[in-house]
Amino acid sequence: MLQTAIEAARRAGQLIAERFPAPRNVTVKGYRDIVTEVDTAAEAVILQLIRERFPGHAILSEEAGGSTIDDGYTWVIDPLDGTTNYARRLPISSVSIGVLERGEPVVGVIYDPLRDQLFVAEQRKGATLNDEPISASEIARLDHAVIGFDWGHSDQDREKTLQLLLRIAPRCGTLRALGSAALAQAYVAAGWLDGYLNLIAKPWDAAAGVLIVAEAGGTHTTVEGEPYRVAVQGCLASNGLIHEELLSVMRAPDATRPRIR
Ligand code: IPD
Ligand code: CA
Ligand code: CA
Repeated sequence: MLQTAIEAARRAGQLIAERFPAPRNVTVKGYRDIVTEVDTAAEAVILQLIRERFPGHAILSEEAGGSTIDDGYTWVIDPLDGTTNYARRLPISSVSIGVLERGEPVVGVIYDPLRDQLFVAEQRKGATLNDEPISASEIARLDHAVIGFDWGHSDQDREKTLQLLLRIAPRCGTLRALGSAALAQAYVAAGWLDGYLNLIAKPWDAAAGVLIVAEAGGTHTTVEGEPYRVAVQGCLASNGLIHEELLSVMRAPDATRPRIR
């Protein structure tokens, strides 16, 4: 399964990279939510390979849909994570492929085709970037930490995210919003970010990231601090060392917005 996940991510990534300079065909699929013809083309490449090799496995993929199964293998796929970036030619996007066995992540692959960076993890075998072992950072203090986050789409999700940022921003080193949830989790695993918060992460945003972060020695939970499950929306990933501090800052009483003079 790992080799198929890697091959599928690389094939989709090649297509994404080749079409990067070309004009985009953008369709609006929801409020502040778009899809391009490259999302669906990349997805088709991935699905074809998985169906050929594992016809009995379930598939849940962002554009094609599907569902997870409890008693076998499910492939959970985001063929192009960071579509808004891609549509604007901001070079921060990835392909994310996770495999669940009875709901538990056993394979995770996140591929950045524009930098040719392949993040991989297999259960209990560690995490790698381009075949070299990676590990989460050793930053143990929130005030030294670089925290990634993403906004979500709805006004309400952005208000909630803003409330949390009002608590986190004065206490952390700094904040970054990259626009590819999967890649941000890979960056936590590589030690380039110390934490990552996304209130609306969907199964395909986090199914690969959860395993890659865990195998790199990090911690990956729900936003409430419970063990991450793909059925639950949202995620909080970190190097593990700052996780409790981050959660306790997030749980602090409602922050008031600073006055702008
Ligand atoms: C989005 C990106 C973005 C995050 C959104 C996701 P998409 O995925 O990961 O960073 O803020 O929550 O929906 O639509 O580009 O695959
Ligand atoms: Ca996504
Ligand atoms: Ca996507």
